[in-house]
Amino acid sequence: MDKKTFQIAIDGPVAAGKGTTAKLVAQRLGFLYVDTGAMYRALTLYTQRVGIYLDDEKKVIELLSRDKPKVELRVPEGEEKDGRLCTVLLNGEDVSWKIRTEEVSKGVSVITQYGGVRDMITPIARSIAESQSVVMEGRDITSVVLPEADLKIYMEADAMERARRRHRELLMRGEDISLETVYTDLVERDERDSNREIAPLKKVSDAWILDTTGLTIDGVAELIVARVNKITKNG
Ligand code: DC
Repeated sequence: MDKKTFQIAIDGPVAAGKGTTAKLVAQRLGFLYVDTGAMYRALTLYTQRVGIYLDDEKKVIELLSRDKPKVELRVPEGEEKDGRLCTVLLNGEDVSWKIRTEEVSKGVSVITQYGGVRDMITPIARSIAESQSVVMEGRDITSVVLPEADLKIYMEADAMERARRRHRELLMRGEDISLETVYTDLVERDERDSNREIAPLKKVSDAWILDTTGLTIDGVAELIVARVNKITKNG
């Protein structure tokens, strides 16, 4: 049977340009942009608000399994078009910006190590990609969530350039933080994402390795769209 949807899976470390590029590619191709990191961030915010210690795996899983907080992603509408890449709802509340703080960033890399947490998000992400064409980004999309994706990309960039990009974003949002702190946090988070036992960030053998150092977002998006056009013509 012909597959009706087209799946682009993108993985890579923090601030490699996955989000902005994926969003642009999705807009150009008319696909849905799916930010799986945002889903994990929303569960992190929920847990932090309740006040559960994130290092306590058992308590975190118990809480999330009991309360089943509802996480939804949608394309920003009306006043939501304020620079965000997607709108994230947590039990109906718009938390699109609340999940972008350094506090949530630190917490999310702890709870994404837990298999029980990953088992809550993976099926949701897969089911989205079954019903529509997607550009989905995260850390385990090419390896676990969509290993059969039509196009698998591992996006990377020099660590200091990534820290500078992230630092600029945080300053623009009014977070008072030094470049050194952003750099240290970023390296720490990458290490945790790459070295965890369950669904670590890795380069799958058939991934296209795309180094975005020195490239513009627009340039990277163009490369990806051209590759998709080539695949669909030849396919
Ligand atoms: O892409 P991001 O920075 O919003 O991701 C937040 C955290 O979640 C980061 O530590 C990596 C982790 N993550 C993951 O483990 N698996 C995914 N599919 C997406 C994100």
